[in-house]
Formats: sequence, C-alpha cells, structure tokens
Amino acid sequence: MHNTRHVTEDIIWVGGNDRRLERFENLFPIPRGVSYNSYLILDKKTVLMDTVDLSVTEQFLANLEYRLGNRGLDYLVVQHMEPDHCANIGRLAEKYPDMKIAANMKTVSMLGQFFDESFEERIHLVKEGDILETGKHKLKFIMAPMVHWPEVMVTYDETEKLLFSADAFGTFGALNGNLFSDEVHFERDWLADARRYYANIVGKYGMQVQALLKKASSLDIQIICPLHGPVWRENIEYFIEKYDRWSRYEPEDKEIVIIYGSIYGYTESAVNALASLLAEKGIKNIAVYDVSKTHVSELIAEIFRASHLVLACPTYNGGLYPPVESLLSDMKALNVQKRTVAVIENGSWAATAGKQIVKKLEELKEISVLEQQLTIKSMLKQGQTQELEAFASQIADAL
Ligand code: FEO
Repeated sequence: MHNTRHVTEDIIWVGGNDRRLERFENLFPIPRGVSYNSYLILDKKTVLMDTVDLSVTEQFLANLEYRLGNRGLDYLVVQHMEPDHCANIGRLAEKYPDMKIAANMKTVSMLGQFFDESFEERIHLVKEGDILETGKHKLKFIMAPMVHWPEVMVTYDETEKLLFSADAFGTFGALNGNLFSDEVHFERDWLADARRYYANIVGKYGMQVQALLKKASSLDIQIICPLHGPVWRENIEYFIEKYDRWSRYEPEDKEIVIIYGSIYGYTESAVNALASLLAEKGIKNIAVYDVSKTHVSELIAEIFRASHLVLACPTYNGGLYPPVESLLSDMKALNVQKRTVAVIENGSWAATAGKQIVKKLEELKEISVLEQQLTIKSMLKQGQTQELEAFASQIADAL
C-alpha cells in the first residue's frame, strides 16, 4: 500500500521507514528506527530527489508509482552516493529508460564504483550554481563536500524556497505519519536522536558544515527537506542554530556528564559519591553513564551536548579500561573540542589510567583538563573525603 505525504502542492514525500533495522550503518543502535526520505517533484518534468535504502524498496516503489500515475520519471537527482540513498538507482534506471541522472562529477565517478554500469548516457552533469528548470521549479545545485561524503551536494528550489539538504539536518527515528517537525514534540522526542545522528555521522566535519551554513545563510529558506527524519517548515532557525552550535563544537548546556568504567563497582561507587557532592553544591541535571552499558554513540552525543565531562576509568592490563579507550578514540575521530574534563583513575596494582587519559585528551583541540585528578586505589576510602570534596569543588568552580 502506498504511503506518501505532500510537502508542498507538487513536492511529495515518497520515502520509506525502517523500524526493523537494529543498527544504522551496522553500527549505531536505532530503537526508534529510521526514515529514508525521497521527494518527488511533479512539475512539467518529473524529478525524484534521491532514492532510498534497499530495505524499504518495495514501499518506495509503491509510493513512487502511485504518485507518478501514468507519467514517467524525467530526472533523478543524486545528492549523495551512500547506499542508504542510492541503492535503488539501478532499479529506477531499468524502470524508467528515459530518466536522466543529475549529478556532479564526484558522484559520477562513485556511480561506477557502486554499480556495474556507469549510466554514462543518462548523466546530466551539474556543478556549483547550475540550475535545472523543470517547468515551474528552478533547482539550484550547491556543493557541500564532506557533509559528510566528498560528493555531497544540496539542492535549493528557488520556486518553493526549499532546501533539499541531503544528510544535513537529518535525524535517526522513523516517521510515524507525521512528516513535519511541527507535527511532533521535536525537542522532547527527537532532539536527542538528532544530536546523536549529527555527532556520530557528521560530527567530524564541523568546518565543512560551517561552510554549508554560510552558503545557506545567503538563501531564503522556508522549508528544509533532509534525507532522514522530519521536514522543517516552521521554526527552522531553531534547528539551524543547533547545527551551527554543534558544528562549532560549542556545548548546548552548561552541565556535567560523568562517564565511568567500573569492573566490580568500586569506581562506580566513587562516581556516585562525587555526583551527590556536586548536587549538594547546587549543580543540577548531572548525567551519569556506565561506559560498558551505554552505546558509545550516545556518550558522544552527550559530550556534544554538555560543557563539562568527568571521565572515571580503571587501569586495565596496565592500560585503559577498553570501553573508555574506545570512547576516547571516538572523541578524537569525531573531532570533539572545547570541553572541560576532570579525570578519576583507579588502579589496584598501579593507577596509571589518569596519565593515559590526559595524553589522549591532549590530542584533541581546546580541551581543558582540570589540574586535580582523583586517584583511587581499588576503593575510595573514608580518609579521602577531603580529597573528594576538593575534587568536586574544582569541578563546580570550573562550571
Ligand atoms: Fe544517509 Fe550519508 O547517508
């Protein structure tokens, strides 16, 4: 059964939702599923903005056929070659023999990598600033390299003042009938997943996102159509501000996130004592996470959100407790910057985790590591009360 929604009178969402997939990119848990958005423009010429992942092919084709009726497809615009959006190019090429593929040069070379044919005779090559007139609509192509792949471009519909934004402004989460961000409790139900999507998928490329935002700022944008998650037609500035902040690596909240690794619960116990002390000092909304049972993508998202971080880690085989080491390596890979970090180390033989954490943090940009570390030898002792108090005060003062 077809399942579509109008974005405007002649732009129609024809994508699909996957609530079965466990992990996006076989990596990130998506308990709320994910949507693969594809948009059909029914103008004098018919234009499809990207295809969808293989998993929702049937739904997508049913939607497309229903909305095209007896018309053919004149253009497929390929904004991004990642398979969650390009898996169906071959199928569409078979189904619509006259379909042209509007794509930039980098996309054209990738097409040949992902398919056994190059679609050479169909290519309508586009570059920065080119316009495709489809009748009423004028589609202007804007290159957005490394947001988050090299070939990415976005498309501005001058007629509708609408930006097809590729993966930018996307989020995890399946669409539950409500297509528009103003039809859902975005901040309550979607923001955490939007942040997790941004931080983990696009987070590394803050500079490139800033470049795209600069280009976008010269456009009058009334609607944003991303490739995942809700379409924006109201309060667009809210989400642009989030993207601006995330891509500058500025925290959203002046708050503390405590992430600990704990093998038998002793480090966890110290963290609980610290959290209570901080709360007694009037600090609100303290978030505490066990690194072993919280997916690293959620930890990264929380680090993007909050200004201050406490890392507590046992020394393990003379090195770092592996999930903490993995978190630190993700922080580096995703370009985390501009945070204040306090460090707790534990060690029953020799506590060296603190030194190793600091060394890894020094590889990141603009990270301020608080001077006093808390060292635990197996268990935080009653005799360390004053030391813990001073450690907590240091964090509270820094906040
Ligand atoms: Fe949603 Fe980069 O693909």
